[in-house]
Amino acid sequence: MGPIRRILCLPTSLSSLVFFLVSATAPGIAAAGKDPALTDDSQCGCYLNKGNSSTYFTYHRFFDFRSLPQYAGVPAVIQDAESSPDADPTSDYFKRDEWSSFWLLGSWNNSNGARPDATVTMVNSPNNVYIEANTEPDPSSQTYLTLRTQRLSDFQTAAEIESASSGFKYLSLRMRARTVGAAGAITAVFTYRGSDMLADVQESDLEIRTADKRNLVHYTNQPAYTDDGDVVPEATRKATMPHGLDWTAWAIHRLDWTPGLTTWYVDDVEVARIAFQAPRDESNIILNAWSDGGRWTGNMTRFDAAYLQVQWLELLYNSTDPDETKRSRRRQQQDGDGCNAVCSIDETPELGTPVLLWKNGPSQVNGAGGRSVSTGSVPTWGVVVMVLFAMELLI
Ligand SMILES: *[C@@H]1O[C@H](CO)[C@@H](O)[C@H](O)[C@H]1NC(C)=O
Ligand SMILES: *[C@@H]1O[C@H](CO)[C@@H](O)[C@H](O)[C@H]1NC(C)=O
Ligand SMILES: *[C@@H]1O[C@H](CO)[C@@H](O)[C@H](O)[C@H]1NC(C)=O
Ligand SMILES: *[C@@H]1O[C@H](CO)[C@@H](O)[C@H](O)[C@H]1NC(C)=O
Repeated sequence: MGPIRRILCLPTSLSSLVFFLVSATAPGIAAAGKDPALTDDSQCGCYLNKGNSSTYFTYHRFFDFRSLPQYAGVPAVIQDAESSPDADPTSDYFKRDEWSSFWLLGSWNNSNGARPDATVTMVNSPNNVYIEANTEPDPSSQTYLTLRTQRLSDFQTAAEIESASSGFKYLSLRMRARTVGAAGAITAVFTYRGSDMLADVQESDLEIRTADKRNLVHYTNQPAYTDDGDVVPEATRKATMPHGLDWTAWAIHRLDWTPGLTTWYVDDVEVARIAFQAPRDESNIILNAWSDGGRWTGNMTRFDAAYLQVQWLELLYNSTDPDETKRSRRRQQQDGDGCNAVCSIDETPELGTPVLLWKNGPSQVNGAGGRSVSTGSVPTWGVVVMVLFAMELLI
């Protein structure tokens, strides 16, 4: 914990004393004792995320589907397998650079026998990814993104979005989402690094099986089974949603992939963590809604459908993709790997907009971890504040 973070969570009377001292006499650490100030990504050198898997990330993206009425509309399902993959994007939203520089709309099918126990042809179609008006009573958003899967006469139409970059290496992904619809489908968000060899696949999953009890979520670091079909129990956890929630209700699902560990949260409550087989190498990000009549998904009844609906999706990440710096609205004046301005998307009063936690002194260019106040310029009141921190730490 750095000094400013410490101030942010100071409890009780000491904090008011610190607040008084700081606000009365300390222009230098003016941020201390106050709520951190809203800023924008161009001012952030890195981001510190909150929680048991707290760590630093370089990049931030926020996809907000809550107020897009100009793009809303539910496209009729394409009934024919052959023309499904070639469907156009369902609205101009998916042609906007903000979207298309980051995501691809999936159009592959399972004819390659990817899952040997599939009993139904599954075809992904861009037509199943769309912006939808929220018609629930007292809606918590005007619109959301929907990924649709439906069982048709002779195939299963499905939806997938995949990151254009396969260079993600560590991330914290959060989305406000729900799954609705009939049994026999999977909705999922995961990191993915494919391989022809099952044993070499690297993948951290959050999966909802619509045939399950409605408060059950599956978290897995794949592979969870061997070539011989044996289950690998250490790879997977079944967790119950906290606060009595069902996955049909809006909740913030979060997946943190950090070195050697994947941690999952629902509404800020840690629900699972798996160190076993945590992905090691750069990966894609994928969201999907699908079924293939196999053992994992189950069979969907003809003309039934299920949906993954997302109000917003926010990402903190690192990347090995050389184009990433160009693509992101990153702070221009970086000092090598250093992080002069540490931001947060957790402490913010405005979803999607970061706040500045602290700035490191001009001499602090020693990486994201370097976050001490540069001691050469700490005047007397600073020392008083630091003594109070020390006392606080002892209490
Ligand atoms: C499935 O994919 C294969 C290989 O890409 C392609 O040849 C075939 O036309 C596709 N079938 C459908 C129904 O999309
Ligand atoms: C952090 O992990 C501990 C168990 O190791 C757990 O009790 C606690 O609830 C977790 N914190 C959060 C914010 O989920
Ligand atoms: C799904 O239905 C097919 C026949 O249509 C059947 O062969 C298969 O066993 C069923 N799968 C499950 C998981 O029930
Ligand atoms: C992300 O990159 C920054 C800058 O290189 C580094 O300080 C930080 O530790 C990285 N985060 C993770 C989770 O590896």
